[in-house]
Amino acid sequence: MTVTLGTPLTPHATRAMLLGSGELGKEVALELVRLGVEVIAVDRYAGAPAMQVAHRARVVDMLDPGALREVIDVERPHVIIPEIEAIATDVLAAVEGAGLATVIPTARATILTMDREGIRRLAAEELGLPTSPYRFVDTRDGLVAAVAELGMPVVVKPVMSSSGKGQSVIRTAADVDAAWTYAVEGGRAEGSRIIVEGFVDFDYEITQLTVRHAGGTTFLPPVGHTQVDGDYRESWQPQPMSEAALAESRRIAGAVTGELGGRGVFGVELFVRGDEVIFSEVSPRPHDTGLVTLASQDLSEFALHARAVLGLPVPEVMALGPAASCAVLAEGTGIPVFSGVDDALAAPGTDLRLFGKPRVDGRRRVAVTVARGEDVDEARAKARASAAALRVALAEG
Ligand SMILES: Nc1ncnc2c1ncn2[C@@H]1O[C@H](COP(=O)(O)OP(=O)(O)O)[C@@H](O)[C@H]1O
Ligand SMILES: [Mg+2]
Repeated sequence: MTVTLGTPLTPHATRAMLLGSGELGKEVALELVRLGVEVIAVDRYAGAPAMQVAHRARVVDMLDPGALREVIDVERPHVIIPEIEAIATDVLAAVEGAGLATVIPTARATILTMDREGIRRLAAEELGLPTSPYRFVDTRDGLVAAVAELGMPVVVKPVMSSSGKGQSVIRTAADVDAAWTYAVEGGRAEGSRIIVEGFVDFDYEITQLTVRHAGGTTFLPPVGHTQVDGDYRESWQPQPMSEAALAESRRIAGAVTGELGGRGVFGVELFVRGDEVIFSEVSPRPHDTGLVTLASQDLSEFALHARAVLGLPVPEVMALGPAASCAVLAEGTGIPVFSGVDDALAAPGTDLRLFGKPRVDGRRRVAVTVARGEDVDEARAKARASAAALRVALAEG
C-alpha cells in the first residue's frame, strides 16, 4: 500500500480537521503539520490552543448539526479528528456514510463514547468485560433506589460530562442531595440522566494507551495516574504491574478498541486491584494522562495518533526511560502569565508545555511539566518540582 500526502495550502493538500482545539489537539496538530498536512482547527471559541498552530481556525458550535456540517462541506477535510466528546456525532455518521471523510477512529466510536451509557453497556453487557456495578437514573428517587441497591459508597456522574464535572461520591445518606444537584448542574446536555457506580477500591488506576494502525494494534507501556475531583493531576510511565494484571489490561483494551474499530490512539482507563482489572471508560483519542509520553517515548501518543490516522507505520515504540507528568492548574479569571519558566526547566531531563489558553474562568489546566528520572519516583518528584517552580498569574485584559 502506498500512502500519499500532499502539500498544504495547495490544490494537492491532505487536509485534517480537528474538532476541538485544546492542548491535546495542539500536539496532534503540530505532528500533522510536521508531515505536511493542512490542519483546520475547530472549536467553539477563538484563540484555542490548536488554532494557534493550525493553518486555519474556525469558530463553530460543534453541537449544532447544521453549523458542523457546513464547516465540513466548506473545508472538505480528508480526515476528521475529534478531540472532545461534545460534538453532533450524527453529522459525523452522515459524513462517514457518504464517504466524504474518514472519521477518527469511526463515527460509531464517537457516538458510543460521547455518553457514558453507550460505552458502559457495550463493555459490560455486550463484551462481558468486568466493570463496577452500575445503574442509570433520571430522577432523585431513582438515585436513592440505586444507592440502596448498590450500597454506599457510590460514584455519581452525569452521563455526558468529562474532567470530573458533576462527579461526586456518596458516602452517607446525607450526601445524596448534594450529589444529585451537582450531577444535574454538571452535565453537558439537557436532562438529568446520571450513572451511579459502585465505588471501586482499587490499588491503582492506569491508562492503557492502545494504537490501532495500518499494521495492527500496539499496546504502550501502562500509564499510572492520580486524579483529584475526577481530574488528572499526575501521570507516570511505566506503572509497575503484575504480569497477570498487565495481560488482563491488554485483553480488555484489545476487546474494547477492537469493537470500536478504525485507526488512532485510544486511552483505555482501567482500575487494578491485585491481579484483577476493571474497565472504567475509554477515550477514542489521545488521553490527557498520556501527556507523559512527550518525555517517555521516542514517538509520543500525539505522534502515534498522527501516524495511525494517516495510515503510516507504527513500528516498535522506543521507551526513553521512566517519566512523569504534572498538570499545572490556574484558578480565577484572566489571561495566564507564567513566571519561573526558567526555574521550571532548570533540571536536566525536564520539559514543559504552556498551552496558550487565551483565558481562565474558574479552574483550568494551563500547562504541564514532564520529566525523566532514574525511576518513576524520581521522575514524579522532578515533574512536581518543575510544576511548583512555575507560577501562573491571571492578568486583566
Ligand atoms: N466507580 C469508581 N470507583 C472509584 N473511583 C472512580 C470510579 N469512577 C471514577 N472514579 C475516579 O474518578 C476518576 C474520573 O472518573 P471518569 O469516569 O474517568 O470520569 P471522566 O470521564 O470525567 O474522566 C477516575 O479516573 C477515578 O479516579
Ligand atoms: Mg476518565
